[in-house]
Amino acid sequence: MKTTLEMMLEKIAGPVAMAFSHQAEDAAVLRLLTRCAPSIRERLRVFTLDTRKLFPETSGYHEEAENFFGLRIAKISPSDEEIARLEAELGDERGIRTSVEHRKRCCRVRKVLPLAGALAGKSAWITGMRAAQSESRTGLPELEWDGEHRMFKLNPLAPWSDKDLADYIAEQGIPVHPLYEKGFKSIGCAPCTRAVKDGEDIRAGRWWWENGTCKECGLHPGRNGGA
Ligand code: ADX
Ligand code: SF4
Repeated sequence: MKTTLEMMLEKIAGPVAMAFSHQAEDAAVLRLLTRCAPSIRERLRVFTLDTRKLFPETSGYHEEAENFFGLRIAKISPSDEEIARLEAELGDERGIRTSVEHRKRCCRVRKVLPLAGALAGKSAWITGMRAAQSESRTGLPELEWDGEHRMFKLNPLAPWSDKDLADYIAEQGIPVHPLYEKGFKSIGCAPCTRAVKDGEDIRAGRWWWENGTCKECGLHPGRNGGA
């Protein structure tokens, strides 16, 4: 039986990009994609935004995921000039904790600007976002128009609960990032992600020093906290 994702992709012509952040959600989406018809898989480009601040464990998992899914996950780098400017302005990693604005400036250089390059020439992009991940994602649709990049954005896991995801990962035997075993429930850059305690929100470990529920990095500007 066709999934909703496959039916959505059948209606969209041209190349589509999948944004892979090495989290369990993205691995589940890749699994769904590898089960789509060859005419869809041929149009698929999978990429990750290599912020140069990822955990050392992420590169090992990158290879594991490529082998498991039998495809290449392109690493998109930020601009060297922008990084040099950023570092001159903010100094070392402590600089991103001095204000939300500074932190978002880092996210912009390392993630948001490279994303625009990764999406150039595509008809649509696919994420692993779920509505249940945080308040700022409440009401997330499975299909939306990304006005900034002028293309469709597909969030096939939007209605999935934590249990739906865990069950699918287990049922399909999909390998996940090793940090999940160490108490992480959301995984991003090393300086900005920590493990969470029982009862804490899934995304409580992201930018943990910031207050509020709108902790987003700007990749998904419609979600309240966009940069
Ligand atoms: S973030 O906006 O706070 O970073 P989150 O980590 O929850 O978002 O990831 C949501 C989705 O954004 C992922 O499922 C993935 O599609 C995309 N994404 C986030 N970070 C990256 C990354 N480094 N590379 C590629 N895609 C990413
Ligand atoms: Fe920079 Fe942290 Fe954003 Fe990564 S998550 S780009 S290190 S501020």
